[in-house]
Amino acid sequence: MKCKITNKPMQPFMSFGKMPIANGFIEKKNFSGEFFFNMEVGFNDELSLFQLNDHPKPEKMFNQNYPFFTGSSEYMKTHFKKYADFAKKYIKTNSKVIEIGSNDGTFLKNFDVKSHKILGFEPSKNVAGVSIKNGIPTLNCFFNKENVANLKEYLGQTDLICASNVICHVPDLNNLIETVSLLLSSDGTFIFEEPYLGSMFEKVSYDQIYDEHIFMFSASSVSKIFKRFDLKLIDAIPQDTHGGSMRYIIKRNTNNSDQNIKKIISFEEKGKINSLESCLNFKKNCEISKEKILKKIRSLKNNGKTICGYAATSKSTTVLNYCNINSNYIDFICDTTKEKIGKFSPGMHIPIKDMEYFHRNTTDCIYLFAWNHKNEILNKEKEFKGEWFSHVEL
Ligand code: TYD
Repeated sequence: MKCKITNKPMQPFMSFGKMPIANGFIEKKNFSGEFFFNMEVGFNDELSLFQLNDHPKPEKMFNQNYPFFTGSSEYMKTHFKKYADFAKKYIKTNSKVIEIGSNDGTFLKNFDVKSHKILGFEPSKNVAGVSIKNGIPTLNCFFNKENVANLKEYLGQTDLICASNVICHVPDLNNLIETVSLLLSSDGTFIFEEPYLGSMFEKVSYDQIYDEHIFMFSASSVSKIFKRFDLKLIDAIPQDTHGGSMRYIIKRNTNNSDQNIKKIISFEEKGKINSLESCLNFKKNCEISKEKILKKIRSLKNNGKTICGYAATSKSTTVLNYCNINSNYIDFICDTTKEKIGKFSPGMHIPIKDMEYFHRNTTDCIYLFAWNHKNEILNKEKEFKGEWFSHVEL
């Protein structure tokens, strides 16, 4: 499927090659039928938007058995508690609150269900099930115009809509933003957080790009996109999650001050973040990063070292497939998610093992795929005395 927000054709500037579904952890018996797509990225000049060219159908990614649970990181649980405290500034008693892509309810459970009317939208059945079990009212469906049409009590009456690491997953941004606009009350607020384009360029964290991450936003692109729907970006606040994210605050087009936005956009302009020139520079940096990590791994192997991967992240699928790193290099990847354990990594088919296996089969070195959770993980694994490394600086 083409990723479209405008009708203007977009020229891809880089291909990461043949990519499987990032969260498509696979059983051996299904190797031969594995799905791949050509992962290309481009830059939409008109909207200053970095995006995938093509993407698989959302139903291929967010289905019965999505293997990502927000609550798998203690740090993220704390982050979502703080995020909820921040968002509560925008509501009163009895406010209606919606979360798009509410996952296992880690964010919404910070709201008092007796004082507010809360509702999560979560398309993946297993994840929505966990949220419902946790007492969070959750609809197991995609957030779009069709699915909110009958929610009469929310239409035009929702004071707060939140999302985290989900807006960049939605190919039909037009439908999504129209849905937000249908639901928001006249003074309602839409807040969302996403990995930040500027951070990805700076860290060369190209593993933020995968089938689910269709768009990589900046304050400039968010401001331009929402303007088309008569919505205004009134603030943007940097976050340290996912290796550098941005929290965007959107209101209807009122007289809210946007001084901070002007500063951030001017900073982005000075740093040429939203330019094809930066994209081409990023492409060069990705190629350098690939050479560097391969050189590192080959040298470790030549010196007889064993390597395992830590955390079978979605991001690791991009790195492993782009760099062609398979089980000749990495013995196994350990992870805490039961849906991944016992399966193999998408495309490269490295076995995924549980933490007990990891602690019993210590390798000389560890490739940290969840580099964004470095502090939490290194703190937990103090016993390990070997070398930690990653393709981004640790
Ligand atoms: P994250 O970087 O949030 O993933 P993604 O790239 O998929 O967005 O990391 C989540 C994955 O990392 C998940 O599979 C669980 C795993 N994980 C561990 O195995 N141990 C840990 O201590 C943490 C924090 C994550």
